[in-house]
Amino acid sequence: MQHAVASQPDPGIPETQSPPRPLRLIQLTDSHLFADAAGRLLGLNTRRTFESVLALALDGDTPADAVVMTGDLVQDETAEGYAYLARELEATGLPCFCIPGNHDRRALMEQWLGAAAMGPVADNRIDGWHLIFLDSTLPGEDGGRLTARQVHHLDTLLERDPDRHCLIFLHQHPVPIGSAWLDTMGLANGAQLLAVCDRHPQLKSLIFGHIHQAFAQHQGHYQILGTPSTCFQFRPGSQGFALDDRPPGYRELCLHPDGQLTTRVVRLPAYPEPLSLDASGY
Ligand SMILES: [Fe+2]
Repeated sequence: MQHAVASQPDPGIPETQSPPRPLRLIQLTDSHLFADAAGRLLGLNTRRTFESVLALALDGDTPADAVVMTGDLVQDETAEGYAYLARELEATGLPCFCIPGNHDRRALMEQWLGAAAMGPVADNRIDGWHLIFLDSTLPGEDGGRLTARQVHHLDTLLERDPDRHCLIFLHQHPVPIGSAWLDTMGLANGAQLLAVCDRHPQLKSLIFGHIHQAFAQHQGHYQILGTPSTCFQFRPGSQGFALDDRPPGYRELCLHPDGQLTTRVVRLPAYPEPLSLDASGY
């Protein structure tokens, strides 16, 4: 049975009249969920950490306007895992946009998340902002790459809408993050993506998951942003696989009508249960 998230992002979020506050987008990433509600990865029940982070994101004084999930949604790539995620997202009552990561199965995403499954290149307009979603995954590979057709499509979308402030979301990191083992599995043609981004001044940020840690870098007129996972974290700067004891979290993106972007990473106060810090892989 097809099970779509209630608030469909297509044909678009209704445009509001002169919003009195910035739009508040919540980015959740790398949830690594399982079919089994008791499923664990590196000591963590990933459904529990996901639910804790989602609750934290929705609990603020300012309501959220939309949720973006940037891949590695379901670790065991099962229908039950996506069905669970669809129920959780539906319960938020918010428009949701999901792109795949290297731990995902696109056909199952489309089946269970419906129009919330975005890509290979998809976009949505919300007030004065343009959100673009790229599927950067390669079957069977941890690293990613955009096809020439995707790069061209992105360039065309940006060229046709030069006055709308823009955010681009993808899974793999398009620039090195200073962690040798993760930098072998980034976006292989990141330079090509950045060359397109550099040409379009309305772009405010390029935002990704995959690295399980916070990252921020300025690139000309836009920011390049990475976001902690909702479950385990990788240690920044580590040359080999290493876990980090900073707790799970999410990224808040506040989109102001004048094109200003303000953002922050928000974390749980602690891991909800002990992380297997001495693990050598997952
Ligand atoms: Fe991941």
